[in-house]
Amino acid sequence: MIKTFDTKNEIDNFLINYFKELSNKEIEKKGSFNIALSGGSTPLSFYEKLALEKDISWDNIYIFFVDERMVSNQNIKSNIYQIKKALIDPLKLENVFYINKEIDLEDSKLEYELLIKAHFKEEVPSFDFVLLGIGDDGHTASIFPNSKLIEEKKDLIGIDQKIGDNFFRMSFTFPLINNSKNIVFLAIGENKKFMIKKILIDKDKSIVATRVRAKENLMYLLNKKSSSLINF
Ligand code: 6PG
Repeated sequence: MIKTFDTKNEIDNFLINYFKELSNKEIEKKGSFNIALSGGSTPLSFYEKLALEKDISWDNIYIFFVDERMVSNQNIKSNIYQIKKALIDPLKLENVFYINKEIDLEDSKLEYELLIKAHFKEEVPSFDFVLLGIGDDGHTASIFPNSKLIEEKKDLIGIDQKIGDNFFRMSFTFPLINNSKNIVFLAIGENKKFMIKKILIDKDKSIVATRVRAKENLMYLLNKKSSSLINF
């Protein structure tokens, strides 16, 4: 499903309502709502506004991180830092599954996989809600063009380093992302328009984000600028 809005505010409001409806539905059905959140700048205003909402059953909502830059949690480049600041800290949320940075990178990756599997009691869990962004190069999560993570078939979490970065990244892989029930892509702004066209019109498989699938609902929330090459 593709939805185009005039303003960022409208996108945030739509997403807040969607989040509320979905969380209520899943909590009623099975007692929990399992979510994975992305970093980047686009979702931050949504997180901040979500933190102001009153009627959300946070006690039944379990938060994981789609990807993380392996720098300290106090570093502004850290997705954990940004999401804590915007959403977790204001609400003092406790059902949060952090990536361990105190241990070796490979051990931390295995630990995060085990945490996820143990929480869901499943070998390949199915998240209820995953929020993703799209980079100018078509990356999503921290799966970059030409990365070996693109073809990962078994591991749920992968480690990679973006060219030019001096830190590693940890990321959900496709076996985990594509087993999710509901995925929302947030893509806002002029710089996203070429990738949006390649993904949605050309269905170009060489673009990482084109490979994302959802079990139930895959949604693209766009604004006028990011959708300007697909809305004729
Ligand atoms: C990250 C991400 C990444 C992000 C895109 C879009 O850690 O950077 O999780 O996949 O979603 O790069 O980022 P913007 O929202 O900043 O455009």
